[in-house]
Amino acid sequence: MSIALTPLSPTIGVEIRGCDLSKRLSDEDFRAVLNAYYRYSMVLIRGQQLSAEAQTAFLRRFGTPKISQRKEFHVPGVPEIGRVGNTKHPDGSPSAFLDRHGNLWHSDTASDTHLDGVTMLYCVKTPDVGGDTLFASSVNAYARLPDPLRDRIEGRQVTHNFNKHNDYLLAKNPGSANPLSAEDRAKWPDRIHDLVQTHPATGRKLYFVSPTLMKNISGYSEGESAELAAALVAHATQPEFVLRHVWQVGDLVFWDNRASLHSASPANYSGGERLMHRGYAYMQPPAYSIDHALSAAAET
Ligand SMILES: [Fe+2]
Repeated sequence: MSIALTPLSPTIGVEIRGCDLSKRLSDEDFRAVLNAYYRYSMVLIRGQQLSAEAQTAFLRRFGTPKISQRKEFHVPGVPEIGRVGNTKHPDGSPSAFLDRHGNLWHSDTASDTHLDGVTMLYCVKTPDVGGDTLFASSVNAYARLPDPLRDRIEGRQVTHNFNKHNDYLLAKNPGSANPLSAEDRAKWPDRIHDLVQTHPATGRKLYFVSPTLMKNISGYSEGESAELAAALVAHATQPEFVLRHVWQVGDLVFWDNRASLHSASPANYSGGERLMHRGYAYMQPPAYSIDHALSAAAET
């Protein structure tokens, strides 16, 4: 085993050292990476030099890449990887998707039927100030949930819809992307999931809700659902539970969307451009059990 793990916080995140992802990892090392992914829900690997093709090859080891609907921001020739940031083409039009209003907690999986998905960001450019990404564990949140709140969510179902989120973003930030076609919108009907879930890979309980995509929680009015979702996210994202990632060029970060929430920070960058190469893959939980105990100590 050549890789080393250092937890980034008591509740979420681990840094892995000793990986050069421009080359194919051995099966043994990849299994260690995958175990860390499930165990810590968020993984950081610094100092990488990754082409979009190499990032895609690594992404494919997790599962089946999903092609972003924002086709205008695909890396040319590599549709598995989309550009996120504030870079522009020579004519001044955006060359990356800029989500100025993405500083809201969510899971990238909430709009899908299949909840096990990894999002992978590779940092190509980062400004001197701003552009941090925040993470919080939905597993830790459930484990520390006060009984009255726990009683309100057991046995409930939550309905999410991608179009609700996308309409909100485009209304807040006109011109940041092309509106989706009717055909693309039709690919995103309501998705209904259990609010309280057991993670299939780790056996840990968690709750799953993304307020910006949420339409309602079963058994509650729209207003009650919004209030309950806000309370759940506020509990999950108390300052002591939040991991703030400050980007460096060459960072690769990927996270378990079933087990975590993430948020951008406000896009008031200064001192340079921001550009991330983003991939997402649908995963199948492994056929072996994951040692899921979190450890505050570094391990090798
Ligand atoms: Fe996201």
